[in-house]
Amino acid sequence: MPRRTPQEQFDKQATHYDGQWNTWTEESLKWLVQHGRLAPTDRVLDVATGTGFTALAVAPLVASVTGLDVSSGMLNEASRRAAETGVANVDFQQGSAEAMPFPDASFDAVTCRIAAHHFDSVPAFLAESARVLAPGGRLLIADTTVPNDAPEIDEWQNRVELIRDPSHHRNYRPSEWTRNLQQAGFVVEELDFMGGFVPMTLNAWLHKAGCTGEAEQTVRDMFARANAAIRETFAIQPMPDGDTRFRWLRVVVAAQRK
Ligand SMILES: C[S@@+](CC[C@H](N)C(=O)[O-])C[C@H]1O[C@@H](n2cnc3c(N)ncnc32)[C@H](O)[C@@H]1O
Repeated sequence: MPRRTPQEQFDKQATHYDGQWNTWTEESLKWLVQHGRLAPTDRVLDVATGTGFTALAVAPLVASVTGLDVSSGMLNEASRRAAETGVANVDFQQGSAEAMPFPDASFDAVTCRIAAHHFDSVPAFLAESARVLAPGGRLLIADTTVPNDAPEIDEWQNRVELIRDPSHHRNYRPSEWTRNLQQAGFVVEELDFMGGFVPMTLNAWLHKAGCTGEAEQTVRDMFARANAAIRETFAIQPMPDGDTRFRWLRVVVAAQRK
């Protein structure tokens, strides 16, 4: 299947990233806000800001937030939501996580929520985060993940994600995050492995990515035929109305630039 760029994928899907998306992922947002140790003087960069859920949640706690994203469609939605909610200390810029358009040491904290699995290069994103952070600055990440020691489950989850959304790159194991962060010069202060508490539903999840036709059928078949270990890990359950409930695993990380 040809890979689609995140810009192409999210320009098409910007208006689907609504309250339901945030309900599915809000535990990770709460974690970032609670564990971020953000200060009123902080300049924050929210990488792959999407429609701005994280940027807008953090803005009242800090001096300023810049939201960065490759998709102008998502950024338009983010600006519209900022204006609607009257948040004034946020600005949005187009650009890539792997080549950030900012000078060295220009932020006190970098956040990145449920997006790194789209990046072509997580090492480049981490190197750029280290570059734009001031010494002692904090990096806060949340993303979908897979278990550390279950290659079959890892393969199933990443495959189903890629078929549903051809801009998917890889959901990394917590052990891969630890290694990549250390190699980029970060001290990992906290790394938690959390199950999503709010179940997702297959119909809405497919719709959100615009997944139809043969790809949709393949994803449905993969869920229907998933083995017991996969069903248990992702709490896959048929619902009385014919839809399917499931949950993804999330990794949440707080790290400090040396
Ligand atoms: C699921 S959405 C973002 C969610 C958002 N961070 C939040 O908290 O709701 C993923 C976003 O990553 C962006 N993205 C993907 N690859 C990117 C990259 N290499 N650089 C910057 N943004 C990227 C997409 O355009 C999309 O807006």
